[in-house]
Amino acid sequence: MRRIILSVVVLLAAMPVLASTSAVSQLQSKYQAAGAGPFTAAAGQAFWNTKHNNSKVGKQRDCTGCHTKNLKSMGKHVKTGKEIKPMAPSVNPERFTDAKKVKKWFRRNCKWVLGRECTAQEKGDVLQFLSIQ
Ligand code: HEC
Repeated sequence: MRRIILSVVVLLAAMPVLASTSAVSQLQSKYQAAGAGPFTAAAGQAFWNTKHNNSKVGKQRDCTGCHTKNLKSMGKHVKTGKEIKPMAPSVNPERFTDAKKVKKWFRRNCKWVLGRECTAQEKGDVLQFLSIQ
């Protein structure tokens, strides 16, 4: 009996991790179906830290502008000053558990930073990088 209780506890403890993995892999398989891949954390990291030219506003912007260079610390919205919870799932297990949320913010933030939507390859790489932080 104790064994059964123990395995249930272990299973429950593992669930948020499973959920997050599944949202990320679910999105990545969609990107793959669109012709992208394979995805690497190195490419995602480079994309995350690069200053991108946003020709629509004539400015250089990057993802760290709001999320900061340290993924494990709080971020701050450059315009509103609102706090943003850490991006690293190791300190914020809610990260990347909801595919809808990920899609919504990719759309908004890519447009804000790059002046266009991110490609399937860029999104797959960024998720590969962020999900292991
Ligand atoms: C202008 C500020 C700002 C910039 C710049 C920005 N973000 Fe965000 N990002 C936010 C806010 C606000 C949220 C939503 C609040 C939250 O999830 O804590 C968010 C959430 C996200 C999420 C959703 C995470 C989840 O838990 O599902 C992803 C993915 C994301 N951003 C990716 C990016 C990428 C990639 C870039 C660079 C191209 C970027 N962000 C640049 C403000 C920004």
